Amino acid sequence: MKATTQPPLLSAVLSLAATSFAFCTETPEAKPFGKTKDGAPVEVFTLVNKQGVKLRAMTYGATVLSLETPDRNGKSADIVLGYKTLGQYEKSSPYFGAIVGRYGNRIAGGKFTLQGKEYKLAENNGAPGLKSSLHGGLRGFDKVVWKAEPLAQDGAQGVRFSYLSKDGEEGYPGNLEVKVTYWLNDQNEWRVDYEMASDKATPVNLTQHSYFNLKGEGRGDILGHELTVPAAKFTPVNAAMIPTGELRSVAGTPLDFNQPKAIGARIQADDEQLRLGGGYDHNFVLKRPLFSGLSGRGTFPAATVHEPETGRVLTILTSEPGIQFYSGNFLDGTLTGKAGARYPKRSGFCLETQHYPDSPNQPSFPSTILKPGKVLKSTTVFQFGVK
Ligand code: BGC
Repeated sequence: MKATTQPPLLSAVLSLAATSFAFCTETPEAKPFGKTKDGAPVEVFTLVNKQGVKLRAMTYGATVLSLETPDRNGKSADIVLGYKTLGQYEKSSPYFGAIVGRYGNRIAGGKFTLQGKEYKLAENNGAPGLKSSLHGGLRGFDKVVWKAEPLAQDGAQGVRFSYLSKDGEEGYPGNLEVKVTYWLNDQNEWRVDYEMASDKATPVNLTQHSYFNLKGEGRGDILGHELTVPAAKFTPVNAAMIPTGELRSVAGTPLDFNQPKAIGARIQADDEQLRLGGGYDHNFVLKRPLFSGLSGRGTFPAATVHEPETGRVLTILTSEPGIQFYSGNFLDGTLTGKAGARYPKRSGFCLETQHYPDSPNQPSFPSTILKPGKVLKSTTVFQFGVK
């Protein structure tokens, strides 16, 4: 066989073509999504992959507006709850699709003591006498406009949202720099990378607050979805929805999801914890090595949800030590979703990867205190499949 030698120019062209082929994923474009009532422009980014998955996210709250995935027959539906307009998000949203922080979930009595000093937060949740600070206070990270930078890698589109939460904002200490990056890759994974640094010690606990309905948003309740959570224990709550401090075994309770169980199978059971939560609204202690303090980046399985009618499967992996399973108990049919359907009770569920609620007041829980000079990194991956 005769050896052929390519002229240098042709081989240069071929290698350039190979390089650009390897990095041909386009950077997503920013499009306007209206202005807040204060006049701040909000942008939306659309991430798409080669398998027909499409995720739209806006700079207000780093909120995921829609997430389209195929069912077992290849038919796409939008599997997250949300609104059509920015105005609706601003008016009243139960944190649809947003990043919540500086502290996701509750802090008892809206206060904590750090390095001998008491900090007071807004008590924006609970009945009189049972008050707490929920999801970062009155104007948490879900209600601010983030900066955004579109990104692309081989086989993945992304957007990096960043926000500077000033010292004293919502009562929390320290200037906290936050970066949250969404990646959508061709393997049908939506990856959320969190990165935070502060100039003073502060509690931090960010999470992604999407409400899923794997049948499609607006298509009834989620009670037939089958959930698996690999957790031997959960953090039981008191009447104020604050953890008692106990890590209680799930064995023999309706909170045992170690084997797949329909969400609705035991939701009406005569169980104190389900009564207190009005359904499921509990933090599960994930079966994985507990990091002392803030976690590293390796992810572990946290939950799987299978929807039998459409075959959609959602698998969640995280580096966080806990996950809040909230069965949409406070949805009550008063909110109208983006396609015009109302959202009745339990028409969406949240699986919020996190550190445990009220950790700043619970010395036995893994610490949520970010110290100055440290960078906190955390990752959660949402995988979309069918079976
Ligand atoms: C909490 C619920 C709360 C809901 C607000 C969830 O993360 O666990 O208790 O009502 O957020 O939409």
